[in-house]
Amino acid sequence: MALYGILGDIHGNREALGAALAALDERGAQRIACLGDVVGYNADPEECVALVRRRCAPVIAGDHDLIGAGQLDFRRCSNDTEYSLRRTRRVLSRESIAWLASLPRRATLEEGAVLLHGGVRDVQTGVQQRGCFFARSHEQRIYRINADSVEELPTHGQILLRQEDTYFINPGAIDASRKRSRKLAECALFDSRAGTLEFLRVPYDGAATEAKAAVFGYRLTPFTDRLYSLKRRLVART
Ligand SMILES: [Fe+2]
Ligand SMILES: [Fe+2]
Repeated sequence: MALYGILGDIHGNREALGAALAALDERGAQRIACLGDVVGYNADPEECVALVRRRCAPVIAGDHDLIGAGQLDFRRCSNDTEYSLRRTRRVLSRESIAWLASLPRRATLEEGAVLLHGGVRDVQTGVQQRGCFFARSHEQRIYRINADSVEELPTHGQILLRQEDTYFINPGAIDASRKRSRKLAECALFDSRAGTLEFLRVPYDGAATEAKAAVFGYRLTPFTDRLYSLKRRLVART
């Protein structure tokens, strides 16, 4: 039992990851778990892999990690996802690629609390557990499930997790570069001893992330976007 920081969907955003880790340290998090998608979209995949390897355990694989490591192909990616992941593949070190490829698809935080990146089959596995932390949708969410109902709870303040219920919890995304609203790094604090959960939203230097992504070639231009769409149509016809 411990005070856990839970985070995921970092997507190569070093500024946001640094801000969230500092906030979790300040709150006294004893262990930090990562729900995957360490890379993709932004310009610091290698630095984010290094930081996650140093600070987080357990770490599970996200789809972007497996695509970045060459374990999955680009078939189910949008144009901008494919573009940034092709760039990511070119800059990741061999060691980081091997580490991303070795990540497990799920993990147990402690008895009764599982970590998943996403996927219906995996989520069903979580139903027998007390708590299931998931990622992928990039939105802070908490659902309380008991025999009769599924109820979505507000994500503000400290939330008491009742022993008799099961919870599905998305701590949100560290990376806010694709969000239109104010750029905040999202994560959660889970106190397994007290049975409480709190969602955190941490300001970070989003302008620096965006400038680097543009300069280092992680942002799709309208022309390349059209080329990618054309390529997809040609592939679909063959
Ligand atoms: Fe993601
Ligand atoms: Fe994902």
